[in-house]
Amino acid sequence: MKILFVGDCVGKAGRETLKHFLETEKEKLNISLVIANLENASHGKGLLEKHFLDMVASGIDVVTMGNHYLAKKEILNYIDNYPTLLRPRNLPKYHPGRGDIVINKNHKNIKITNLMGRVFMADYVTNPFESLEESVSLNPSENVDIHIVDLHAEATGEKQALAWEFDGRITALIGTHTHVQTNDARLLKNGTFYLSDVGMVGPYNGILGSSRDAVIKRNMTGLPAVFDVQDDDTFILNAVILDIDDQTNKVIDFHLINKLYSKDEVDV
Ligand SMILES: [Fe+2]
Ligand SMILES: [Fe+2]
Repeated sequence: MKILFVGDCVGKAGRETLKHFLETEKEKLNISLVIANLENASHGKGLLEKHFLDMVASGIDVVTMGNHYLAKKEILNYIDNYPTLLRPRNLPKYHPGRGDIVINKNHKNIKITNLMGRVFMADYVTNPFESLEESVSLNPSENVDIHIVDLHAEATGEKQALAWEFDGRITALIGTHTHVQTNDARLLKNGTFYLSDVGMVGPYNGILGSSRDAVIKRNMTGLPAVFDVQDDDTFILNAVILDIDDQTNKVIDFHLINKLYSKDEVDV
């Protein structure tokens, strides 16, 4: 079975590029399940309900989020209506929503967990190791066959530490948040797939998808700047395809996607 995991989708450019990819490639690539991180999907930060619904209609099965999950406050009112919309699991109990979902595809129970790192991230995030331990311990009673984790985090050391701690007990740990695809995809010793960061979908000539001028100004001068989504004519799509063996439920092959589209191909 092939699972597509897509990195942080930024703004309208990201949404349209991802929709185009799913339209033209999903069937061809024989993808059974699509997981996408949409924390930046609405104007670069957060997720409006209408955009969530639009993206689900285009073929995304499970949506994950991250540190920007509250940037569009309306999510507080709608997140509990959609079990396939995940926010990081390791947040204080006051947060609505959920960080896990088990869905059935191809006669397999597939669990997706969204976690957030703590290093260089928000100070209200709780221990991701304890949170994932709690989730994994429920897997036998939930008859989980395949367990995919989106770890939304900044530091590669923290990402690797979580992956190694759960090596052999989860199917894959895939990093999101940095918007830059890393070149370290591998299987760990006990078979867990690991990738520090899958990358992003959206404007190719921005800085992590945001306006170049604004990010340069902030970094160069220390003065405030508004980070709009970069207006662009080229779009990048970063993702990874996991090929999972029907017998062992382990990743037997993987394929990174790092694809550019022009404005002629994607209507933004
Ligand atoms: Fe992001
Ligand atoms: Fe993020």
